[in-house]
Amino acid sequence: MVEERCCFNKDALAIKAPKKMHVVLRMLMLAAMMICGIYISSVSLKQIGIQSRPRKLMIKIMEAPCSKPDIPYYEIPYVHYPVPTTYSRDECACTPVRFFSIVSMQRSGSGWFETLLNSHVNISSNGEIFFPKERRSNVSTIIRTLDKIYNLDWYSSSSKNECIAAVGLKWMLNQGLMENHARVVEYFSQRGVSVIFLFRRNLLCRLVSQLANDHDRSARQLHGTHKAHVHSESEANILARYKPRINTSELIPTLKHTDKFATDALGYFKSIPHIVLYYEDLVRNHTKLMDVLEFLRVPQRKLVSRHVKIHTRPLHEQVENWDDVYISLKGTEYESFLNSDYGF
Ligand SMILES: *[C@@H]1O[C@H](CO)[C@@H](O)[C@H](O)[C@H]1NC(C)=O
Ligand SMILES: *[C@@H]1O[C@H](CO)[C@@H](O)[C@H](O)[C@H]1NC(C)=O
Ligand SMILES: *[C@@H]1O[C@H](CO)[C@@H](O)[C@H](O)[C@H]1NC(C)=O
Ligand SMILES: *[C@@H]1O[C@H](CO)[C@@H](O)[C@H](O)[C@H]1NC(C)=O
Repeated sequence: MVEERCCFNKDALAIKAPKKMHVVLRMLMLAAMMICGIYISSVSLKQIGIQSRPRKLMIKIMEAPCSKPDIPYYEIPYVHYPVPTTYSRDECACTPVRFFSIVSMQRSGSGWFETLLNSHVNISSNGEIFFPKERRSNVSTIIRTLDKIYNLDWYSSSSKNECIAAVGLKWMLNQGLMENHARVVEYFSQRGVSVIFLFRRNLLCRLVSQLANDHDRSARQLHGTHKAHVHSESEANILARYKPRINTSELIPTLKHTDKFATDALGYFKSIPHIVLYYEDLVRNHTKLMDVLEFLRVPQRKLVSRHVKIHTRPLHEQVENWDDVYISLKGTEYESFLNSDYGF
């Protein structure tokens, strides 16, 4: 019995010895293969680095650690990490940035609205960028301008530090936006730009404001200068003194055209993430501004503006030929414009 046990044990040992050697050999080979593999991949990586543009590779490497897993998958296209060419975002390189465009019409409160947004430390809205005609002379100049803004390479008085979380501009429908709507929608879709529509409900009030502003452009009522927006009540009162005369034969076609312009814009951009705001609602209810901050995914905070409203009296006191205007609109689809309870 003892011998049997001994022999059995010996056998077992005899069998185990070569197996151990086998394992050691295998491990050595594995190590050699790993070293080879690391060498080959490092060489080929270097070659890739040389062949393709090294800049692109750099951006990829920099972007990777910025992606935040807590952002829902459907928001990923709207979260950006711009790398400006003119400066470094430093410690905020990984602060996600949202791209937006305020889409509006003249005399719809967008000047006031934009100063409110710009009072937020993390928002930079660069103004009426496409006011100068040369920037909207063709689609290529428009795209080049937009690229510069969204890459954070645009300088304006509202450009902020490298820690901004939302960047955009104010774009009027008649500044190349409607003419080039198909290409702009394509661009917004590709670059993940969201739209903030800002319109005025009462288009008659808008018309009065527009006629008064046109008048001031030539009359220059404030110490010989034209002002589209004012910062004091005394200046507002001077501008509000002028009562425009409305050409009633053009009135309904004008209102129709304005209405259609806004409706068409909403249609063109319906596939782009957007929020629709009305000036009157913002004036009545300041909480609506918080909806915008939520839309832009920036922290909620109080927004302020120094702008002072120009027309504050009831509408009938602001039009020279009110009786004619009243007759023209009474019984039409625009009748409600006659009853503005808040002086706009
Ligand atoms: C907002 O800006 C401040 C100051 O630059 C910065 O400290 C903060 O991280 C920014 N917040 C967001 C959400 O980007
Ligand atoms: C677009 O306009 C710019 C500036 O007016 C001009 O230099 C450029 O040649 C135009 N490009 C095309 C494709 O028309
Ligand atoms: C009003 O508009 C019509 C149509 O455009 C024009 O023929 C007419 O001269 C205008 N009237 C005044 C007083 O400007
Ligand atoms: C003001 O706006 C907020 C945000 O949109 C809304 O929840 C609230 O009901 C509004 N208040 C009034 C009185 O309309």
